[in-house]
Amino acid sequence: MMITFGVRGNQPQRDEPAVKEGKASLTAELTTAARAAESMRREGRRLCYDPLAREFLGGPLRMVARSPLLTRFVVWLVEKLAPGVPGEVLSRTQYIDDCLKARIDDGIEQLVILGAGYDSRPYRFEELKSRVTVFEVDHAATQEVKRRRVQRLLGHLPDGVVFVPIDFEKERLDAKLFASGYDRNLKTFFIWEGVSYYLTASAVDETLGFVVNNAGPGSSIVFDYAFEKVLEGASEGRQITRALIAWQRVAAPLTTAECFVFGIEEGTIEEFLLVRGFSHVVNINHDFFESAYFRGAKQGRDVSRICGFVHATVGPHSS
Ligand SMILES: C[S@@+](CC[C@H](N)C(=O)[O-])C[C@H]1O[C@@H](n2cnc3c(N)ncnc32)[C@H](O)[C@@H]1O
Repeated sequence: MMITFGVRGNQPQRDEPAVKEGKASLTAELTTAARAAESMRREGRRLCYDPLAREFLGGPLRMVARSPLLTRFVVWLVEKLAPGVPGEVLSRTQYIDDCLKARIDDGIEQLVILGAGYDSRPYRFEELKSRVTVFEVDHAATQEVKRRRVQRLLGHLPDGVVFVPIDFEKERLDAKLFASGYDRNLKTFFIWEGVSYYLTASAVDETLGFVVNNAGPGSSIVFDYAFEKVLEGASEGRQITRALIAWQRVAAPLTTAECFVFGIEEGTIEEFLLVRGFSHVVNINHDFFESAYFRGAKQGRDVSRICGFVHATVGPHSS
């Protein structure tokens, strides 16, 4: 069966950006809601722990997150509609948290969160505060909402966090970051979580090109990417197929729907990044995820295989 994956049943438009001008990201809100719900589970049962996620929710989702009963119902519904997708998204967050902890221990001096959405790491990782300059890079509309929610949470915008509004499709990351005080000689960690598939191929290349050419020795990037077969709309995987149908159903009535427009063929990520100048590419496969994060009481939780995950190191750049 061929499944189309786009707003109102259209085929994905690969040369068109997925995020709508002037609208805060819906997917950023949904992933935050998933983290908020997961964080209500008991230790040992949860895939990730983001106690600030609920503070970044707005409107109806914030109300749902206040009620454990309602939250359980919504989680059950989402799992029915998109089996395994929460498992994949939440273990991704834990993996990136683990990478960030390791990179802080390695002495990173800057953290750049590309397409930050409501990522709460700058506010929940105490070790970042006063030691690491954080750049939150995101679409202006989403970032504006984020800034308001940070204010609501902390009562102020913290000094060590720099907000950089950008449209990756229309503006240059180098110009934006340099104007915001980014230092290309420092050891930097880039987090690009849940973003690459919403960008056109040229915006993906520009972003990776910036990272590889403008970060100090020992810098690295972690990101996830959709498998190409997922974009093609049809796949042999039951979970992927059901998840796509589900997203289309949920997204279709919403004008802010963001659809996947970029993917990388499964098994080719090393080559993809090596030719783009990265020096050490660690391909994180699902078997690793399942053995690392789906243990004990979490064993048996459904996990889809829509995306790949990778951590790649930046070689020394010629200045
Ligand atoms: C699924 S959300 C992920 C948010 C966050 N990284 C997380 O994991 O919770 C996708 C993010 O990508 C951002 N994004 C997508 N396309 C963009 C573009 N062209 N320019 C800037 N940001 C973009 C959205 O604003 C949104 O914050």
